[in-house]
Amino acid sequence: MQVASIVPSSRVLINRVSGKFDFSKPRVIAEFGPGEGCHTREIVRRMHPDSTLLLFELDPELANHLRHQFRNDARISIVNDDCALLPEELAKRGIAHCDYVVSGIPFSTMEINKKREILRRIHGSLVPAPHAAFIIYQVTNELRDRGHCGHFARAESEYCLQNIPPMFVTVFYKQANGHANGHCSCNGNGNGKH
Ligand SMILES: C[S@@+](CC[C@H](N)C(=O)[O-])C[C@H]1O[C@@H](n2cnc3c(N)ncnc32)[C@H](O)[C@@H]1O
Repeated sequence: MQVASIVPSSRVLINRVSGKFDFSKPRVIAEFGPGEGCHTREIVRRMHPDSTLLLFELDPELANHLRHQFRNDARISIVNDDCALLPEELAKRGIAHCDYVVSGIPFSTMEINKKREILRRIHGSLVPAPHAAFIIYQVTNELRDRGHCGHFARAESEYCLQNIPPMFVTVFYKQANGHANGHCSCNGNGNGKH
């Protein structure tokens, strides 16, 4: 229930997700559920050298693995705790807002009140700026389809078939004039840019 996956994300999915960030400037990025770090490595490879990356991983073994993997990179902090603690962990570091939250945690199996609370906290933690966004990859697009992210101004989705299982990648922008760095990959099934 916590991991909700049998294999890590594919190269194609990792590239699609990383393509949603604007890495042209220093950013504060939070990643929820990095697992063994497949998305993390790509984010680190692409991000501006003055960026800060906070990894929230509940599983102690995976958190230790991440600590070891990124031990030589002072820009990266590993929090072996619930991602709901995002505002507190930012505050501890004297950071008012983050630019991006990217999530691989299984939101669809989460209890409804907990889900809403985490989404509220993500929204509150994002800087009010056009690039600021919550990026999620999920088997279903339930956060968008069921209106759980109604407090975000705008959303863009695409479907990535080249993953086991296929996943929706959805970007929820804090502001109505939000924009992605990449371009929309509409799939013709009504799940593309709106
Ligand atoms: C499906 S795996 C994703 C792994 C990796 N990001 C990938 O794409 O292959 C989900 C991860 O989220 C972690 N997780 C689940 N709930 C969490 C929570 N509330 N806070 C932090 N991590 C969580 C799990 O321990 C697991 O490592």
